[in-house]
Amino acid sequence: MCGIVGYIGPREAYPIVIEGLKRLEYRGYDSAGIALFDGENLKVSKTKGKVVDLEAIAEKNITLSGNVGIGHTRWATHGIPNDVNSHPHVSNSGDLVIIHNGIIENYESIKQELITRGYTFKSDTDTEVLINLIEEVKKQENLKLGKAVQVALNQVIGAYAIAVFDKNKPEEIVVARLGSPLAIGIGDNEDEFFIASDASPFIEYTKNAVYLEDEEMAIIRFHKDIKIRKIKDDSVVDTYVQELQINLEQIEKGGYDHFMLKEIHEQPKAITDTYRGRLLRNEAIIKMAGVEDNMKTFLNANRIIIVACGTSWHAGLVAEYIFEDLARIPVEVEYASEFRYRNPVINENDVLIAISQSGETADTLAAIKLAKSKGAFVFGVCNVVGSSIARESDAGAYTHAGPEIGVASTKAFTTQITVLTLIALRLARAKGTISSSDFRTHLLELEMIPSKVEKALLSDENIQTISNIYKDVDHFLYLGRGYNFPVALEGALKLKEISYIHAEGYPAAEMKHGPIALIDENMPIVVIATKKGHYEKVVSNIQEIKSRKGKIIGIVTEGDTQVRTLADHVIEVPETLESLSPLLTTIPLQLLSYHIAVMLNKNVDQPRNLAKSVTVE
Ligand code: M6R
Repeated sequence: MCGIVGYIGPREAYPIVIEGLKRLEYRGYDSAGIALFDGENLKVSKTKGKVVDLEAIAEKNITLSGNVGIGHTRWATHGIPNDVNSHPHVSNSGDLVIIHNGIIENYESIKQELITRGYTFKSDTDTEVLINLIEEVKKQENLKLGKAVQVALNQVIGAYAIAVFDKNKPEEIVVARLGSPLAIGIGDNEDEFFIASDASPFIEYTKNAVYLEDEEMAIIRFHKDIKIRKIKDDSVVDTYVQELQINLEQIEKGGYDHFMLKEIHEQPKAITDTYRGRLLRNEAIIKMAGVEDNMKTFLNANRIIIVACGTSWHAGLVAEYIFEDLARIPVEVEYASEFRYRNPVINENDVLIAISQSGETADTLAAIKLAKSKGAFVFGVCNVVGSSIARESDAGAYTHAGPEIGVASTKAFTTQITVLTLIALRLARAKGTISSSDFRTHLLELEMIPSKVEKALLSDENIQTISNIYKDVDHFLYLGRGYNFPVALEGALKLKEISYIHAEGYPAAEMKHGPIALIDENMPIVVIATKKGHYEKVVSNIQEIKSRKGKIIGIVTEGDTQVRTLADHVIEVPETLESLSPLLTTIPLQLLSYHIAVMLNKNVDQPRNLAKSVTVE
C-alpha cells in the first residue's frame, strides 16, 4: 500500500509528482506529501488528507520550483494518519529525505539504538527510523548515499519500496525494493527518470520502464544512467527495459463519474479481451500456453489448492465449483493469509493456483513462496503484467482486464472467472470428463457472455430505484446457492466496502441455521435465483423469507414469473449455463452497491481505510 512517485530531469518536478500521486491514490489516501529540491533548498510539504489537500498546502507554503522531486500518498501502518507521520521524512541533519511503501518490522530496536546515539524522532513511523539509520551508516562509515542505503537495508527486516535523496548530491536518487513494487521510467533521451509504484504516473512521458526485482536497488543519475545492484551482495544486475503496454486513456475516467462505474461497464470488453486468442470456437479448442506447457503437471496433480484474498478469493470459490464439476479435480480454496500461517500439508503433487488482480498482495505472495518451498507447482492468475506474483509463479495466465483503479474490484472478478473457466474447460477436455458437445456448448455460451453482460447492464435504472428504497438500511443479507453462493459473498463485500452498510453473504440453505433470526420487515435480502441451478430450492428459501416479512430483491433469469410473484423487486439477467451464471449475476450486485454508495455520498473509488493493493500482511 502507499504510492510513491519521483522525478529527476530537466522539467519541473512538481506537476509530474502531484499528477502521479493522484494516479496512485488508489494505493492509499490517508495523507500525502512532497519534497522538492531547487538546486539550493530542500522543500518539504505534507499533510493528512488527500493529494488535493496537499496541493492546496504546498502551493501556499513552499515554492514549487525544482527539477528533483519525490512524493508519497499514504495508507497508514505505523502511526495514525496525521501531518507529522506523513511522508516524506527528513533525517536529523536535514540532508536526507525518504519516501517509503512497506513496513520495517525491526524498526523499534533500531530506533532505540539510534536514540542512544543522540537521534530524535518527530513521528511514530518506521520510515523516519530508516532514513536516520541510513544517515548514521553514511556518517559512521563515510559512505556515498547509494552504499549507505545498501548497508542500512541489510540491517532491516521487512518490506519496502523506497526513494532516497541527499540534498548535497542533487544529481541522484537512490531507490530499492523488497516486497513492494517499484518501476523506473526512462525518458526518451535518457536525460530524465521517473519513479513510481506502478507505471501510471509516467505513461504520458515514456513507454520505457525498468521494474526492479525484489532485493534490488538502483542509483538513478540525472543526465547519466541507472545502475542496478543486488542489495545483499552488491552484484551488478543487467538493466532490462520493458515497453509499457498501457495508455493514458485506460487510466482515465473516460466520461464516467467514477472509475468503479467505468470498470463495471468495461466488463464486456474485458471478458472478450480475456478469452480472445484462447477460446477458438470454430476449431473447438482452448489454447493457453501456461496450461499446455504444464498439462502433465495439472493432470497428475492430487488436487488444486487455490489461494487468494478478498474478491479474488471469491473468484477462487467459483473456480472450485467449475474445476470439480467439469474437470473432476479436487480443489481446496484458502484465504492466503490463513494458508501461509497454518502449516498446511502440501507437496510436489499439488498445484497451487494464486489469484490476484494486482499481483502484489503480500499474503498471496507469501502463500506462493510457502507452496514453492514444499515443491508444489504454482500457477498465477494476475491482471497486472510483470507483477510480483506473476513473476514468482512457475507459469500463469493473465486476465486482460486492463488497469483496475477503483478500490472495489469489479472487472477483475469477472475476468478471473473467465480465465479459470477456460482452464477448467481445457483440463476437462484433456481428461475426457466433458463430452465434446458439452465442451462446444460451453465455448459458445462463454463467447456470448459479453453481449449478455451488456444486457444485464441495462437494468441500471431499475437498480437505481431499488437502491433509493434501501440506501438507508443498516444491514443487508445476500443469498445464493451453488455457483452463486460465492457471488452472494462478493455482492455483500461490494456493499460493505463502498457504502459501509453491514452485509453478509450466505449459502441460501444455511439461512435457516442462524441468519434467519435476523430477518424482519426491515431486512433487505438479495437472493440470486436464476433458473439453472437449484431454482426450486431457492424459491423455497424465498418463501421462508417471505413468511418472516423480509424484503426480497430477486436476481432472476429473464422472463421469470415465479420469483416475481414472491419478491418485492426483481432484477433480470439473461439466461446462460449455470457454470457461467456468476459472470452475469454479479453485474446487478456491483451496480446495486455502486448506486447505494453514490446516494449515500460515499467516496466510491477510495473507500475509507482501504487501499487497492494490500502489500502488507
Ligand atoms: O490484488 P488482489 O486481487 O490480490 O487483491 C485482493 C483483495 O485485496 C481485493 O480483492 C479486495 O478485497 C478488494 N477491495 C475487493 O473489492
